[in-house]
Amino acid sequence: MRALVIGAGGVGSAIANIASRKSFITELVIADYDASKAHAVTQKIQDPRFTSVEVDAGDLVALEGLIRKVAPDVVINAVDPRFVMNIFNASKNAGVNYIDMALSLSIAHPTDPFNKVGVKLGDDQFAQHDEWLSKGKFALIGIGIEPGLSDIFARYAQDYLFSEIDAVTILDGSSLTVDGYEFAPSFSIWTTIEECLNPPLIWNEGWHTAKPFTGGVTFDFPEGIGPVECVDVEHEEVVLIPQKIKAKKVTFKYGLGNDFIEKLKTIHALGLSNKQKVNYRGMEIAPRDFLASLLPDPATIGPIMHGKTCAGAHVAGLNKEGKPYACYIYNVVDNEWSMKNYGDQAVVWQTAINPVIAMELIANGTWKPAGVVGPEWLEPKPFLDLIESYGSSWHIRDEDPAGIEA
Ligand SMILES: NC(=O)c1ccc[n+]([C@@H]2O[C@H](COP(=O)([O-])OP(=O)(O)OC[C@H]3O[C@@H](n4cnc5c(N)ncnc54)[C@H](O)[C@@H]3O)[C@@H](O)[C@H]2O)c1
Repeated sequence: MRALVIGAGGVGSAIANIASRKSFITELVIADYDASKAHAVTQKIQDPRFTSVEVDAGDLVALEGLIRKVAPDVVINAVDPRFVMNIFNASKNAGVNYIDMALSLSIAHPTDPFNKVGVKLGDDQFAQHDEWLSKGKFALIGIGIEPGLSDIFARYAQDYLFSEIDAVTILDGSSLTVDGYEFAPSFSIWTTIEECLNPPLIWNEGWHTAKPFTGGVTFDFPEGIGPVECVDVEHEEVVLIPQKIKAKKVTFKYGLGNDFIEKLKTIHALGLSNKQKVNYRGMEIAPRDFLASLLPDPATIGPIMHGKTCAGAHVAGLNKEGKPYACYIYNVVDNEWSMKNYGDQAVVWQTAINPVIAMELIANGTWKPAGVVGPEWLEPKPFLDLIESYGSSWHIRDEDPAGIEA
């Protein structure tokens, strides 16, 4: 499989690193608008199958030209979600399959954003399903860890564990700390702000929104992570899961912890979350981009990061025998382990293995996506069966059948 990875940040570089250990990858080109970042990835990996190039994902013509020139089997989008539609459209125009880990952006309801749904995450991509289908190409969207493996866990729950599902709650929490920083998001700060400050999306037999930082629960995460305060945030799973899994309620609760929540509220109150450009002494800059430039690069904090990160799906309903049952299906990565074995920090490594596993299943013909699809459109078992061969694991922990609803 020939792959073109666009974005040589935390996740893109980890994808290249993991892919370099896989023989099904015949060629991989990694691109970034910062050519030195893409070059650093190939320098680190030292694999003759891998090369780097420069491209600006904001330039549709340049992107399409690059995709046509490289002529890969698949384009992997690992740039922040602002560029989803450009990379998605450039791939479609060039007639090349596409994979991403974050869906096209939402637009809040213009008059009642905390009660009514506007444009949802991924709506712009799903709107093109028929076009992709008629071209005989696929766009597999949201195949990171969350969204991604979390969706696969939810589909596994439906297929193998439950006869009826009351609630799917995606719960993400960690015990991660970064030496010397009181505030250091472990992946794209741009995305972190986007997902935390947008009105949370909730599926409750229909899509609804709520106020940011509501729906709080303290969830006891496994493998020593322990209790973390979680709140509802806008996340792709709430768009994807209800389309394929019959659940009455679907939410995403992010284990941000109280301190992180307070800092995000302050950033927002000061206007530093704003993504529109402002003019500062003749310079045009978006406050959010400026803030990102002050924070440590998520790709480089691995050596000073400690702890574990957990992603999973909590599912409650009736088991296959019709009895009340709940479980948390999860994946934990220890930063010490991922740094030692791959040199990538836990969060980006935990994200990056999923598109590589997906590529393996597509390359060997096990998965045959068609059109615009999410991870839960595809058979979950072959994916889960491959996780251990990549050095990771997944587990099922029985939970209180009463569920965890706040
Ligand atoms: N599904 C998941 O579980 C999950 C988890 C983490 C991240 N993500 C997604 O993965 C993507 C990458 O995240 P990350 O943590 O690696 O972010 P990052 O900020 O570390 O990396 C983004 C890279 O894109 C490059 N870039 C920015 N603008 C560009 C442009 N115009 N043209 C070309 N390159 C450009 C940057 O130089 C950087 O190298 C994001 O969309 C994020 O939302 C998904």
